[in-house]
Amino acid sequence: MRPLPLALSLALLCPPVMAQDIAIGAVLYRDFCAACHGVAGKGDGTMADLMRRPPADLTRLAGGGPFPILRVAATIDGRGRLPAHGGDMPVFGRWFEGAGPVVAMAGPDGQPILMSAPVADLIAYLITLQD
Ligand code: HEC
Repeated sequence: MRPLPLALSLALLCPPVMAQDIAIGAVLYRDFCAACHGVAGKGDGTMADLMRRPPADLTRLAGGGPFPILRVAATIDGRGRLPAHGGDMPVFGRWFEGAGPVVAMAGPDGQPILMSAPVADLIAYLITLQD
């Protein structure tokens, strides 16, 4: 039997949704996000008053519905930066690139959404903050 190409073998070995690490996400959140968004994610960080637009309340991202994984991943890593979204929110994609494997989280329809592992850990943590 011919060996499978490496990428395909990896795809078969790794389930499409890998376990995210909420504890790592919490540390990343504290280090990279809390200054603006506040320790509890309410948008009341120590730097919030310096922003032209107030940092979003991250406890309301889901708003009672499904958590908007793609929108939040895009906000953090900057892939979908819209002109209207040109606030003070830094783009973290370059910082988190190469800081771990690319992983997939399941979107609302179960479709995989690819992102770097730290972004997935952050999102897993943000999901725990939802009101
Ligand atoms: C320098 C301040 C600052 C830091 C640091 C920061 N943000 Fe933000 N963030 C903002 C501001 C201001 C907004 C809202 C304005 C805008 O649309 O750009 C925002 C918006 C967001 C949104 C959009 C909410 C929505 O409704 O789509 C998300 C998600 C978010 N931030 C997550 C994060 C995460 C996660 C981190 C850490 C990796 C982080 N932010 C770090 C200032 C910051």
